[in-house]
Amino acid sequence: MDSDTILVTGACGQIGSELVMALRARGNNVIATDLKVPSGELLESGEFQRLDVLNKNSLATLVSKFKVNQIYHLAALLSATGEQNPELAWRVNMKGLRNILDCSVELGVKRLFFPSTIAVFGPTSPKQNTPQHCVMEPNTIYGISKQAGERWCDYYYQKKGLDVRSLRYPGLISYKTKAGGGTTDYAVEIFFEAVKHKQYNCFLSENTVLPMMYMPDAIRGTIELMDASAGNLSIRSAYNFSAFSFSPQDLAKCIIAEIPDFSMQYSPDFRQAIADSWPASIDDSFARKDWGWKPEYTLDTMTKDMLTNIMLTNGIAI
Ligand code: NAD
Ligand code: SER
Repeated sequence: MDSDTILVTGACGQIGSELVMALRARGNNVIATDLKVPSGELLESGEFQRLDVLNKNSLATLVSKFKVNQIYHLAALLSATGEQNPELAWRVNMKGLRNILDCSVELGVKRLFFPSTIAVFGPTSPKQNTPQHCVMEPNTIYGISKQAGERWCDYYYQKKGLDVRSLRYPGLISYKTKAGGGTTDYAVEIFFEAVKHKQYNCFLSENTVLPMMYMPDAIRGTIELMDASAGNLSIRSAYNFSAFSFSPQDLAKCIIAEIPDFSMQYSPDFRQAIADSWPASIDDSFARKDWGWKPEYTLDTMTKDMLTNIMLTNGIAI
């Protein structure tokens, strides 16, 4: 589907800023959209339009004007920001998705990507190797909205034939764009603090194990899912999607192997309760079987790549 016209919502965020560039590099015409106006390569490499996903008329106008046939709907409030403003999180995450689903059906968009999350699981889900299908009682507004979003996606696939595809992303680690208000953000911030100040005060406790993934794997997996043959896909809610798991203490040890004078303190805050309700590891065998998912990066290779790139972009000798 290389010559498709793709609209990306929330394009200025941690995922969108890299996904847009990856899609453009494949030759797609990508209409990047966000509430915020970007600068740099995102703006200079192609079309950008300001769009609030709560405004269905503006969304429909853009889809019609640019003859959009694929949408990656990334705009959302994440777990920590969502707990601080549950009303707004519910509106953006739910009404925003409904607008996208309805516009897609009404205007003939062929394929839609919806990012779900490990936050759809809750304290009563199995903690280790959490399976694709199990008890799901999320207790954050973010998790509740994403779980409902998954059900809406499956409903639109079953009832209206919309080709919706979705992944339950773990915590994503990247260096190009700051993380946007999630519980896993410590695993991004730590690298910048390690390079600049050789210390980090972590907002989760040392033994909190969570599923994580390096952004290049996440972007590749997302595009592979969107390229997969529809007949191979058995899940239309959202696929479990996994790479590796670690605790803050595990990550600190890996960083110390590269920066020996790095030190870590722990001051758990309200995000600890969110993290405690999530899985420690994920069984992604449906993704592996249906469309051949396989991560490339390990905790060690991700750590080395993050530090190298942050040093390079900050002009620090390696
Ligand atoms: P982010 O917070 O970095 O970016 C979200 C973007 O959405 C921001 O640029 C924001 O300006 C925009 N936005 C917010 N409200 C909007 C509105 N009303 N209209 C238009 N744009 C709006 O988030 P991200 O990390 O890039 O995540 C993208 C998606 O992936 C989200 O749906 C998130 O739930 C999901 N996800 C992310 C992670 C992760 O670790 N980053 C993990 C699991 C799932
Ligand atoms: N990284 C995300 C968050 O912490 C998981 O969806 O909110």
